[in-house]
Amino acid sequence: MPGLFISLEGIDGSGKSTQGKRLAESLRALGQTVTLTREPGGSPGAEEIRRLVLEGATDRWSAETEILLFTAARRDHLEKTIRPALARGEVVISDRFADSTRIFQGITRGDLSQIVDRLHELMIGVEPDLTLLFDLDPATGLSRATARAGKELRFEDMGLAFQQKARAGFLALAAQHPRFRVVDADGDPDTVAARVWQVVSAALGQGRA
Ligand code: TMP
Repeated sequence: MPGLFISLEGIDGSGKSTQGKRLAESLRALGQTVTLTREPGGSPGAEEIRRLVLEGATDRWSAETEILLFTAARRDHLEKTIRPALARGEVVISDRFADSTRIFQGITRGDLSQIVDRLHELMIGVEPDLTLLFDLDPATGLSRATARAGKELRFEDMGLAFQQKARAGFLALAAQHPRFRVVDADGDPDTVAARVWQVVSAALGQGRA
């Protein structure tokens, strides 16, 4: 695919959505065409699945059922939004992608990593060119995330230990895959945006990450 695929990952409240918007603006200012999208969601069908997985009681779905729902949403997002944008040569920035399933479903509630990986290989089969991991203390992240008004708190309601496991899992995953860059997400939005830009411009300068 000719475009460039960037994913943003991190625990809840790590600031990646704010930074995604700023990164898209910076790239557009350089003349790039950018599709800024998100998971779960990013296409009409996947946005419907988003409501199912993010709202309601924590025990509404098992981790196994979540794997199926998030993967179904991702497949639709890939077909309807990501692949067409990359084929047009655009930069795609996705606020979360498959690494979120690897962590939130794969390791936080028992070891379901093999199921996640097999389903990913079968149904998705692509990885981003570059993944920015926004790393932040989970207590800070959780207080930011729960301070937001809204109904999408099913994962935040799983608590601090859940977010701590997720942070450790993301850092371990980042250490395994060269497409990752870890960004310190502690600080005001301008400071974090400058860190992001440093990482992305260096990666662009090298061609693909
Ligand atoms: P957001 O707050 O970044 O929009 O993400 C929504 C929530 O969905 C977040 O708590 C993490 C969760 N999630 C998963 O558990 N698995 C996934 O595959 C994705 C994409 C998100």
